[in-house]
Amino acid sequence: MIHPSYGIGVLRALLRGAVSDLGPPPTSFTVLLDSNAASVTQDAIESALGELDLPIHLILWEASEAKKTLSEAENLARNIIQLGVDRESVLIAVGGGVTTDMGGFLASTLLRGIRWGAIPTTLLGMADAALGGKTAVNLPEGKNLVGTFHHPLFVICDVNTLATLPARELTSGLGEVVKTAFLSGEDSFRQLEEATPSELRQPGDSLLTAVSEAGRTKMRVVEEDPEEHGVRKLLNFGHTFGHALETAAGHGNLAHGEAVALGLRCAVRMATDLEIAQSGVAARLRSLCAKLGFPNEYPGTLPGIQELCTLLSRDKKVHAGNLDLILPVEPGKCLLLRGVETQAAAEVIHKEL
Ligand SMILES: NC(=O)c1ccc[n+]([C@@H]2O[C@H](COP(=O)([O-])OP(=O)(O)OC[C@H]3O[C@@H](n4cnc5c(N)ncnc54)[C@H](O)[C@@H]3O)[C@@H](O)[C@H]2O)c1
Ligand SMILES: [Zn+2]
Repeated sequence: MIHPSYGIGVLRALLRGAVSDLGPPPTSFTVLLDSNAASVTQDAIESALGELDLPIHLILWEASEAKKTLSEAENLARNIIQLGVDRESVLIAVGGGVTTDMGGFLASTLLRGIRWGAIPTTLLGMADAALGGKTAVNLPEGKNLVGTFHHPLFVICDVNTLATLPARELTSGLGEVVKTAFLSGEDSFRQLEEATPSELRQPGDSLLTAVSEAGRTKMRVVEEDPEEHGVRKLLNFGHTFGHALETAAGHGNLAHGEAVALGLRCAVRMATDLEIAQSGVAARLRSLCAKLGFPNEYPGTLPGIQELCTLLSRDKKVHAGNLDLILPVEPGKCLLLRGVETQAAAEVIHKEL
């Protein structure tokens, strides 16, 4: 199942619609709910599911990246089995990317796979993490190293649930929104350029448009290439540089989207130096990132070239020690440059940041 029903609008109404159209009737619902998202979702979820008169098992989970582990997955799986799940039960993951990654992972492995749906409540979740069917937990050796592809039946985004999201989390989500808008094309990118930062920070038309553009673009790419053999690699725009910077800065010093925004700038710098990017593209990306409140520089002292090479070479997309990088040409057009030496990429980071 690759085509989840993807809804943007009012949570209660969309969920009511989604659960009435699940195929074989469900026997129960298990709701894995990020406790930080409960105040903005729980009533609507209970009311929509309550209409079906089926058992609802609610698990309030204090989600955090540190708990996205195999041992926490075991705790949750045991809890869910003890609550009485069967193969026709449906799991609903409600929260940020941590919760939808964990919920999707549980749904893909419990009883060899049960149906699931996602209700992302962070901007990063709505624009990226909840879409595309990738599920994962972390290992001490690195993030997202154990996971599956298991597509949700539905993804429901209600921008009103972002009202309680801390400002920095919202900015972080905007990093993925910028990335996806650039991949989508001139119209999407210009919409972001023309919106004011405050419009993009509160539930309203600009944020709604940005979320739906990002969601539709990601879904289009995923439908074309569900398991990332080709065009889905474009979604890594900014991420090879970004992941290296995120790891180097250490937990809490650079949020994922902040690192991606710096990564986008490094990628456009490289594309400009190689005369791949059209003139003006670098300036537009830099000024959009600055306008949205992303840091202009790396926090602290930038690691040396050798350390950056080591960090870059840990990228999942590394082949024989060299990198595959997504480089921007113009909005709507990026290309995959294969076999880039880590040294060259590290030098770009030093030039740009
Ligand atoms: N599967 C994928 O394709 C994919 C893609 C990108 C990222 N991810 C994963 O997503 C995770 C990051 O997601 P995230 O940034 O959403 O982080 P997150 O899930 O940790 O959420 C960020 C914080 O916001 C809180 N929160 C969530 N919703 C809230 C709300 N409405 N109001 C107030 N607080 C709320 C959470 O409890 C948490 O403290 C990472 O683990 C990453 O690996 C997965
Ligand atoms: Zn990302």
